Amino acid sequence: MEEELKNKTAIRYFKKFDCTDIIKRIDFTVKVSGKINSEYLLWAEAKQSPTDIYKMLAQLIVTIKQDAYNLLPPKFIGCFDSEKIAFVEYNAVLPVYALNDFNWSQTPSNVDEKTIATIKKTVNKDNILKFYFGKDDDEIHNFIEQNFVEGGSLLSTLIDKNNFIFVYQKWREMVMPSINADWEKLKKNYNIYDRDFFLSELNIDDNDTTDISDDKVAYPDFFISFNSTASKCYQLTRKDNFGLEVTYSFGYKNGGLEKYADFWKRYKRPPKNVYWNYIISRLDLLVPQDVRERKGAYYTPQIWVELSQKYLAGELGKNWQDEYYIWDCCAGTGNLLNGLVNKYNIFASTLDQQDVEVMKERIKNGANLLESHVFQFDFLNDELLPVGNSVKVETDFGIMEISGKLPQALYDIISDPERRKKLLIYINPPYKEATSAATVQGTGSNKSGVATSNMVYKKYKNILGKASNEVFTQFQIRIYKELSQCKIGNFAKLKTLCASNFSDFRNAFQAKLKKLFIVPAKTFDNVDGSFPIGFFIWDTSEIEKFKKIKCDVFSADGSFFGHKKYQVDDEKHESINRWMKRLDTETENIVGYMENPTPDFQNNKFLCIINNKGTRHNNYSAINAKTLIVNAVYFSVRQCIKQTWLNDRDQFLSPKVKWEKDFEFQTNCLIYTIFHSQNRISSNNGINHWIPFTEYEVDAKEKFQSHFLSDFLSGKVKAEKSNANLFSHTAVESRLIVTLQFSDTAKAVLSAGRELWKYYHTMEATNVNASLYDIKEFFQGRDKNGKMKTGSIDAYYTELLANLKSALWDLGEIIKPKVYEYGFLSE
Ligand SMILES: C[S@@+](CC[C@H](N)C(=O)[O-])C[C@H]1O[C@@H](n2cnc3c(N)ncnc32)[C@H](O)[C@@H]1O
Repeated sequence: MEEELKNKTAIRYFKKFDCTDIIKRIDFTVKVSGKINSEYLLWAEAKQSPTDIYKMLAQLIVTIKQDAYNLLPPKFIGCFDSEKIAFVEYNAVLPVYALNDFNWSQTPSNVDEKTIATIKKTVNKDNILKFYFGKDDDEIHNFIEQNFVEGGSLLSTLIDKNNFIFVYQKWREMVMPSINADWEKLKKNYNIYDRDFFLSELNIDDNDTTDISDDKVAYPDFFISFNSTASKCYQLTRKDNFGLEVTYSFGYKNGGLEKYADFWKRYKRPPKNVYWNYIISRLDLLVPQDVRERKGAYYTPQIWVELSQKYLAGELGKNWQDEYYIWDCCAGTGNLLNGLVNKYNIFASTLDQQDVEVMKERIKNGANLLESHVFQFDFLNDELLPVGNSVKVETDFGIMEISGKLPQALYDIISDPERRKKLLIYINPPYKEATSAATVQGTGSNKSGVATSNMVYKKYKNILGKASNEVFTQFQIRIYKELSQCKIGNFAKLKTLCASNFSDFRNAFQAKLKKLFIVPAKTFDNVDGSFPIGFFIWDTSEIEKFKKIKCDVFSADGSFFGHKKYQVDDEKHESINRWMKRLDTETENIVGYMENPTPDFQNNKFLCIINNKGTRHNNYSAINAKTLIVNAVYFSVRQCIKQTWLNDRDQFLSPKVKWEKDFEFQTNCLIYTIFHSQNRISSNNGINHWIPFTEYEVDAKEKFQSHFLSDFLSGKVKAEKSNANLFSHTAVESRLIVTLQFSDTAKAVLSAGRELWKYYHTMEATNVNASLYDIKEFFQGRDKNGKMKTGSIDAYYTELLANLKSALWDLGEIIKPKVYEYGFLSE
């Protein structure tokens, strides 16, 4: 049993690797394949039945000590059972091997409770990445792809002049509350602030380890010395009123030292000498974050603010804040500008005067902005003119004189093409479509409709096409057209990259996309839904129509998740719906219809097989013997991959012709479609042509009304008509001749389905023509609102249905890679 699980895991998740190596009692090993002496990537413990992760890890850790401690260790250790898998970086378990009070001689398969408890205490749970098979498959594959490479380790973040403010702000939240100090008194009596304590912790040389016992002071001149092993961690010497030196000590409250250790293992200390000196010279920036800035409507979450600035530093250089002018032209209350250091180079404008007032108030409270650079400006209506100038423009109310609003310093930059090259428009504009300029206030509250009353819309609607309804594209096009040469760092939805109705936008906005990271939209204030939001860095001085990019993906908690490719070729790529429409030519002997919703994951919930055409504004493709396969392929490629926030807006495309010759793939898709829960064929709505079995196979009490499907599956339809081109499809120029080729996995689905049908036909009051949907309805029943219940009281039925679902899941797994291979989705 355990062997089977190991084989299955190896095939399903570690196909590219070598899992054949045996190291004594270690259950499972993973290495790079095809390389002599390649290093181990994983050693894992395997258990057939669900087992506590710490128990499995404890067994493995003891096994390693006894059987493999002299070998070069793997990058990760881990464990899995029939439902889950977990990984831990090997470095994170090293502290266990340093423990004195540990029974290393016990039998690994029989570790005691004390050992398990010790492992639990020593291996911090933050270091353990746990995934569930099936549900988290995409995440498992991504994790393996990202991390199962030789060399390198998950590095701690380096601290430099671009991120120290964020590190300080996080430290205030996570560590500072545990320090036993009276901050007010310290400030009043000794002129000492919390930042001094932060700096004394930052001033530690961690010796390249996360172990705090080998830490030592890095830059000796700092006036508070910190020692993590002492009970009074901070030591500070001051002269008293009599000129005598007095040493003051401070320590942590309960559990504080653990918080300290937990916090600092994320960062590499000390910062380099140049950065340490810089930080010490900019103590003015280490002030508590003004709470008011968080209250601004639709603020940008600080973790993405920090990350976006890290990416900007990566793209524009470490000194980007001194070398570039930064203008946030929809600044709200200025949250996006948090963490920036050079206020002379920053400009912030926004729609609401109220928000401008808040920004000015914040400056008084220490926000690092210059009052003369903060101003009210409606970016979608106002003219790019300096204060003191005016211009006559034609408006809906006749000719009007419009006064300039830009600070002269900013105007001088934007009116000089050379200086514009050093201008960064750094924004998080509203994402939603808006009804009018008045409702274009933020991301959340707008009704659907269009922002048609602003100047930018009117000016650029013809070149933007359908994209003109989106406020964020209006921002982008004005920047591109009127501030050309500049760089743009903007948060936005991903539509601009691949959506078919944004092809006009892609033609109009041809800037080079230098970098992109994406995060889940629901982490943003007032944004609902499961889709990605990206941070894009564009260079408008390089003309390039967007074709493809490999971007970085981050999870909601800010951890790196993997990469994702976005690719589009407006000339070459056709949507899967256009393809289907071309093949949807049949009008006779129709056995059902398939609804073809908008071709992305978001709309897959509408994709179903039904008896009759529905009423939604979608195409309903007609299914008969000639189009059954093509419909099943369309259905399966869209349904076999789970919708996630990451793929939600990925577009399904017309495939490469290769799929037409892959008969096993086609048959897999057919079986997948027949037994999928979105197959809603019911004998209540007409003749059920979707019974995959004969009366004999399921011991039916009467003859079925239709044998279409069982005939089709047995190849009879073809034989009877003896027409070689019966299944060939004129629309694909007769290339598609159906030859059914059943894989073992497809056969397993058929046999699980057969058992279910058989069981149904043993029931008293049965409908001989029942479909899968009808059978489910029979056993599960409906609730008082008429909705089919999710479970049944019939235990045998429940077991049979679970078998069918599990076989179908396996079949989906086989179809999945083909979806990419044949180009239904671009990788
Ligand atoms: C998503 S919020 C981001 C705010 C800010 N960057 C932050 O992180 O807190 C978008 C901001 O754009 C402002 N805005 C909307 N339309 C605008 C326009 N036409 N011109 C300038 N700002 C606008 C809104 O008032 C809102 O504060």
